[in-house]
Amino acid sequence: MAFLFSVARRPGSVVARHSGGFAPSWRQRRPLRRGKPQPSPFPKLCSYGFVFCFGLGFFFAFGVCMEKVFRRFAFLLTGFLGGRRVFCMTKDSWNPQQYEKFKAQRSQPFYDLMNLLRSQEGARVVDLGCGTGELTEELHRFVRASETVGIDSSEEMLKKAQGFSGQGLSFHKGDIQKFSDADGFDIIFSNAALQWCTDHPALFAQLKTSLRPGGQLAVQMPMNHDYATHVIAQKLSLEEPWASLLKEPYGKAQSMLTVEQYASLLFKLGFKEQNVSLKVYGHELESREGVIEWVKGTLLTYFESRLSPADFQAFVTEFRKRLFAVLPDEKPFFYPFKRILIWAQN
Ligand SMILES: C[S@@+](CC[C@H](N)C(=O)[O-])C[C@H]1O[C@@H](n2cnc3c(N)ncnc32)[C@H](O)[C@@H]1O
Repeated sequence: MAFLFSVARRPGSVVARHSGGFAPSWRQRRPLRRGKPQPSPFPKLCSYGFVFCFGLGFFFAFGVCMEKVFRRFAFLLTGFLGGRRVFCMTKDSWNPQQYEKFKAQRSQPFYDLMNLLRSQEGARVVDLGCGTGELTEELHRFVRASETVGIDSSEEMLKKAQGFSGQGLSFHKGDIQKFSDADGFDIIFSNAALQWCTDHPALFAQLKTSLRPGGQLAVQMPMNHDYATHVIAQKLSLEEPWASLLKEPYGKAQSMLTVEQYASLLFKLGFKEQNVSLKVYGHELESREGVIEWVKGTLLTYFESRLSPADFQAFVTEFRKRLFAVLPDEKPFFYPFKRILIWAQN
């Protein structure tokens, strides 16, 4: 801009005087040696440019400040571009408050998984899908790890997790699906996260490459996909208008194997020892409404991240109607929840 100004104000740079009629455009004006100097269009253009750049800068600064609004915009844009199928391009619908509504019930499987670990003081540990980080800290202390790294793709979850970092514990943004680490870990731990990943045979094989000799793999995943919540959600995702809005039916991307298949996979991958079990966690909820609240923190995040707020509301309304048609209206309500616990040593 300084350069433009200096050109416009060069002494002796004058333009031909116009003699009546319509004013010629600035392109038509030719520099002459004589005559009264005409105002150059450059300062005007520069000031327009300045106003434009300032406006643009302000727009982006505003966008960054209003992170949520900005993300919504990004979501709409990626949706418009047809990118909703890609995990990292979907809206971050993980909500720590919603997820922690059933904190006590959700943390029991974590403790059960942690208790499967063999003592390995000073280990290097990774927690894949660490969420809010609270349980990662417990894991770090339980193992007496020298280093524990929590990985999650949700910025909302990581924001909360950062509060637990320090003393060998750190949290980073990353996609489990692409996880690998050249230094390797003594313990690869994942509680209630791998069910969101695809192609488990390839994923487990990939995880093993980041496991040191003698290292332990510990994974817990919900296995409730034959319960009414999941069956109805999947059925709805195949019906219109949801099928068109979602682009991909629920369940297609998830690739859970059977309990026996996980055991066979671990054997095939060369793990020396293994412990694979299916456990039913019985939850006593106030009423069946609790089931909706429960799945809002997990299963329904799949739909929330792919639908507009209004479409998501409509989806939940229909989901509730169908679910309540099959769940008994009992108080308290017993919610049986199956989970698989996997432990294996390299
Ligand atoms: C149900 S929460 C479990 C959180 C934590 N492990 C716990 O036990 O409380 C699942 C977490 O996995 C994360 N997640 C899901 N898919 C992921 C992926 N592909 N890469 C990284 N994190 C993922 C989510 O962001 C979420 O925080």
